[in-house]
Amino acid sequence: MNKIKNTLFSNKPVTIDEKSLIMAIESSCDETACAIVKGGREVLANVVASQIKIHEEYGGVIPEIAAREHLEAVNIAVDEAFKQAGVKPEDITAFAGTVGPGLVGCLLVGLNATKSLALAYDKPFIGINHLNAHISANFIDTDLKPPFIALLVSGGHTQIIDVKSYSELEIIGETIDDAVGEAYDKVARLIGLPYPGGPKLDKLAQEGNPFAFKLPEAKVEGYNFSFSGLKTAVLRLVKSFDGKEMPTADICASFQECVSSTLLKKVKRATDERGYKQVVLAGGVAANSEIRKKIFNLKNEGYEVYAPIMKYCTDNASMVASAAFFFEKTFDDINVEVFSRA
Ligand code: KG4
Ligand code: ZN
Repeated sequence: MNKIKNTLFSNKPVTIDEKSLIMAIESSCDETACAIVKGGREVLANVVASQIKIHEEYGGVIPEIAAREHLEAVNIAVDEAFKQAGVKPEDITAFAGTVGPGLVGCLLVGLNATKSLALAYDKPFIGINHLNAHISANFIDTDLKPPFIALLVSGGHTQIIDVKSYSELEIIGETIDDAVGEAYDKVARLIGLPYPGGPKLDKLAQEGNPFAFKLPEAKVEGYNFSFSGLKTAVLRLVKSFDGKEMPTADICASFQECVSSTLLKKVKRATDERGYKQVVLAGGVAANSEIRKKIFNLKNEGYEVYAPIMKYCTDNASMVASAAFFFEKTFDDINVEVFSRA
């Protein structure tokens, strides 16, 4: 990979290659993150300030509070990243920041910080799509190369993406209603687990019987998904225990079994039909124990399987820097705007 580009400001030519250091900032939701990555794969600094404790008492992310918290945390995260990596701002080749999808007020904080750094040090600025960043978490510490099928499962998105090359990504399937992470968080709330419910539901599920309850798997055409019917079925099941002790772990395990087997079926079919052997898992829900297990079991059938280690599954800035290295062909104009939905 060797890209020669011009900076925005002094029109100095800049080369992006294996030795390049990209600093990235991520602030699309409730994590303020800053990272420095060398050559797209080697993480020199990875700083994440989570706001989970702050939003816990409200049972979800409050956008205005999140934006204010990003403002408090972003400079500290940047300083800490330089310290961790042992490099100076002048050593950075380009600055990258998430432009969307995400919470607009939150994105603005991180993006303006990124643009300011690029301006102050006369370096290129690169705007990054958060979903491409999640996929790029799989380039960290690996030698993964396209083509591959990516299953992206996060709080806001559920997609199957055909990554044909570094420059050609085609979304071939997505949810027609709730995202997987959203379904996890909603079901967790139904059974009384505090925010963020996904990881807690996953933990409880590991103590239950996945075949205790038969929950409905939505029949959706192509590589698309639907999870709202499943959520309603869990609601009905929970209500049926009105007053009686609820087998919470069994309900969690049955829900997790239904979700993970649906995801596995479609991602496997997509990989086969596109003639690929590489399957990549991405997004916050890629941290889920059962989804990981089912996808990794594909190795026994001759597939090559990739999933980021836990700290690169949920929102972080290393994946943003990696996306800047692999997926971006051009530097961006400083006027690039944030956007909320894909
Ligand atoms: O990618 P992410 O950090 O933020 C978005 O871009 O949306 O994903 C957050 C989502 C939340 O819905 C959270 O509950 C879910 O990922 N999540 C999990 C697990 N860890 C995080 N869901 C199920 N099992 C997990 N272990
Ligand atoms: Zn995310």
